[in-house]
Amino acid sequence: MTRSGGAARKGILLAGGAGTRLHPMTRMISKQLLPVYDRPMACYPLATLLALGMREILVITTPEDRSRFERLLGDGSALGIRLAYAEQAQPRGLAEALLLARGFLAGSPACLVLGDNLFHGPGFVEQVRVASQRTQGATVFAARVERPERYGVAELDSTGSLLRIVEKPARAPSPWAITGLYLYDASAPDRAATLRPSARGQLEITDLNNLYLAQGALVLERLPDTVAWHDMGTPDSLLDAAAGVRAAERASGRKLGCPEAEAYAQGWIDREQLLRLAEGLEGTPYGEALRRLAGGAR
Ligand code: TTP
Repeated sequence: MTRSGGAARKGILLAGGAGTRLHPMTRMISKQLLPVYDRPMACYPLATLLALGMREILVITTPEDRSRFERLLGDGSALGIRLAYAEQAQPRGLAEALLLARGFLAGSPACLVLGDNLFHGPGFVEQVRVASQRTQGATVFAARVERPERYGVAELDSTGSLLRIVEKPARAPSPWAITGLYLYDASAPDRAATLRPSARGQLEITDLNNLYLAQGALVLERLPDTVAWHDMGTPDSLLDAAAGVRAAERASGRKLGCPEAEAYAQGWIDREQLLRLAEGLEGTPYGEALRRLAGGAR
C-alpha cells in the first residue's frame, strides 16, 4: 500500500515494436535485446523501475522474443522482484501497453517505461519518486533536446504551462521532448480503451496524455539538463548511449542502470544473493563490478 492508502504503483516495461530504424540488426532480434556497452538494452529501463521502487513489473515483448526476455530476466526472484510477461501481437502503439496490462495492474497506478530509454544523472530518481507520490492523474517528463520533432513535443503558453503535446511535428513548438517514462493513475486502461488508432494505425501515447491534459489531469515535469536521456532507437543513438554509459561508469566508479545493484540498494537481495549473481558472471567485468559492490569475496 502507498502512503495515501491506495494500491502500490506497478511497473510496465514496454519492449515490443518493430525497430525498423535499426534494420538489419533488428531483423532477427528485438531492439531491446541489443547490447548497450556490456548488457542488453532492456536492463537499463528495468533498473530505472527498480530504482523507483517498483517491485512488480510486467514486461511486454513481441511474441517472437518473449522466450529470450524470459531467459535473460526470469521471474525476477533472483532480484527479489516479480516479473510477469505479456505479448503484443503487432506493434499497435505505445498506448496499447495499458490495455495489455489491465489484468496485471488490477486497479493499481502504473509507471510505464519504454524499453529503449535510458535515464541517468543526479536528481533523476528523486524527481520521479516525488512525482510518483501523486496517485491521481498522469505525469510526463520532458527533456530539452536538439531535435524535438522526432518525439512528442510540449507546446507551452507564455507562462510555460502545457497547452498540448504534438506528436512528431514538422516544426517543434518548443525544445521539450516527452521522454519514454510515464506515470499513470488507475484509470489509464479505461482511458486507453477510448482511443482510436491514428493515421499511422497506432494507439498513440500522445493521445492518451492529451486526454489526461484535456481533463486537467496531466502534469508536465521538466528534467534538468544534468539528467542524461538516451532514446536508443537509431544506430548513432545506440552508440552514443553505450559511450555515455562507459564514460559515466568510469567517472563514478559505479555501474549505472544495473538491476542487480538497484535490487541490492533497495534491500530486496542481501549480500550473499548479490555474490551469487556475481559468481554467475565470473570472469566478466560486469560480474567483477557486482563482486566489488558486495564488498569482495565471501
Ligand atoms: P518506437 O521507437 O517509436 O518504435 P520501434 O521500436 O518499433 O522502432 P522504429 O520506429 O525504428 O520502427 O518505439 C518506442 C518504444 O516502444 C520501443 O521500446 C518499442 C516500443 N514499442 C512497443 O513495444 N510497441 C509498439 O507498438 C511500438 C510502436 C513501440
